[in-house]
Amino acid sequence: MLATVFFSLLALTGRSASKAVFAHYMVGSMNSSEAAQDVTDAIAAGFDGFALNTHSISSSDTWNTDAITYLLDAAEGTSFKMFLSFDMSWGLDVSGLPAFLLQFSNHSQYYTTDDGRPWVSTYDGGTTDNSEWESSFYQPLVDEGVTPFFVPDFDDWSGYPTGFFDTFTVVDGAFSWESAWPSAGTTPANVSDSVDSTMVEDAHAAGKIYMMPLSTFQFKYLGSGQDWYRIGETNLPERMAQILSLQPDYVEVITWNDAGESHYVGNFWPQQIAGTDEGDYADGFDHTGWQQVIKPFITAFKNNATDVSQISSDSPVGTFWYRTLLTSASCSSTISNYQEAEDAVNYAVVLPSDDYTIEVYSNDQLIGSFSGVAGLNYDSVPGLQEGSGQSIQILDGSGNVVASANGTKDVLSESSDSSMCNWNYEVVGLS
Ligand SMILES: *[C@@H]1O[C@H](CO)[C@@H](O)[C@H](O)[C@H]1NC(C)=O
Ligand SMILES: *[C@@H]1O[C@H](CO)[C@@H](O)[C@H](O)[C@H]1NC(C)=O
Ligand SMILES: *[C@@H]1O[C@H](CO)[C@@H](O)[C@H](O)[C@H]1NC(C)=O
Ligand SMILES: *[C@@H]1O[C@H](CO)[C@@H](O)[C@H](O)[C@H]1NC(C)=O
Ligand SMILES: *[C@@H]1O[C@H](CO)[C@@H](O)[C@H](O)[C@H]1NC(C)=O
Repeated sequence: MLATVFFSLLALTGRSASKAVFAHYMVGSMNSSEAAQDVTDAIAAGFDGFALNTHSISSSDTWNTDAITYLLDAAEGTSFKMFLSFDMSWGLDVSGLPAFLLQFSNHSQYYTTDDGRPWVSTYDGGTTDNSEWESSFYQPLVDEGVTPFFVPDFDDWSGYPTGFFDTFTVVDGAFSWESAWPSAGTTPANVSDSVDSTMVEDAHAAGKIYMMPLSTFQFKYLGSGQDWYRIGETNLPERMAQILSLQPDYVEVITWNDAGESHYVGNFWPQQIAGTDEGDYADGFDHTGWQQVIKPFITAFKNNATDVSQISSDSPVGTFWYRTLLTSASCSSTISNYQEAEDAVNYAVVLPSDDYTIEVYSNDQLIGSFSGVAGLNYDSVPGLQEGSGQSIQILDGSGNVVASANGTKDVLSESSDSSMCNWNYEVVGLS
């Protein structure tokens, strides 16, 4: 009986029966070999696909259409798929979206529901009302014989999240963006899952799906009101715990490659940030260490784990991260929400059993030692100091170091570059 109800609900909404984890991908100028590298690396990190953030729908922006084509083509022959995520903060014309989508939605690597409906997402667009989405986007596609599966991020709608599915009846599900981090503010705060909790519950009550956002932190330093920090520290593992507990249908990691906001976990290519100052704070700050903890998280999520103790690995894996400039640096107060930051060394490590110790060092001094437990271990350890010698070590039950990660960058008390106050993280995976 229950099974019958469950399956008829699936048929009704056209959702896919299995969970999936995507990475938000900022589409920018690139070539086919870079696209192939991104697809290969994202598959290796356990992702099911990319949400392709598209801020142009102009056919004359061939850098954009070429990049989307390179990415889709690069995944041919694999189970890795992609869907468009229209970046409505660029003022895209809703009535122009269907024709743009139809160029790509029949590609073998375009992500669809089991019954063939192409997924479409957005960043913003909730200030355009339901009836316009219905008449200018949804219905024109249906008239072309293509019924989209629409999972937008409309958290710019003033009422979000209360009553969302009653107001936006056009959607098949929802994604949120802002709930990936604590609200911007002037004191350290833990990330809340109250928006996500409401959205999961309301989506399921409406027979729809919820895709929950997962991110590391934000740091942007482009001047003129565009210098900000959204707390990192242990935001990533805290969100992992919330996701496993709330059991959303899908997860989207923010982001694969956004150098501008520093929350990339994969590659970003030089052409994608050419003409900006983003390289000043992102170049040389490799974040791929975060993939070591994302990959086992994805497996656990898909296996219906409900707690971080169920994230598993046969050997210790994980990463640590720290900022390379102390919060007392004189330039720090130019960064919005600088008060949320702490001088700390942060780690997230997955252990096969309880029989390990995690040691955390700054300036070659032990600042924390923790008895590990099976599953995901994480902490933000105060005591980041000026100098070199930031590291973590994983010791087995006999006291032997079985894995370690050494920071490659010194911590400074003042910026070495008068125009740059860099709060990007140094992230180093265990080996
Ligand atoms: C793509 O660009 C990279 C460097 O930016 C270059 O090394 C590579 O050869 C290019 N590949 C193609 C197919 O043009
Ligand atoms: C997909 O549709 C577009 C536009 O309708 C068409 O140009 C293209 O050839 C189609 N591609 C495939 C793989 O069918
Ligand atoms: C965040 O959560 C941790 C662990 O539950 C707790 O120790 C800490 O006090 C919280 N921090 C804030 C600012 O609420
Ligand atoms: C997870 O739960 C869903 C829904 O109950 C079920 O269909 C699926 O088989 C489960 N997946 C695994 C790997 O156990
Ligand atoms: C980190 O540095 C220590 C001390 O120099 C060294 O023993 C260890 O092998 C290094 N770890 C890695 C992963 O390079």
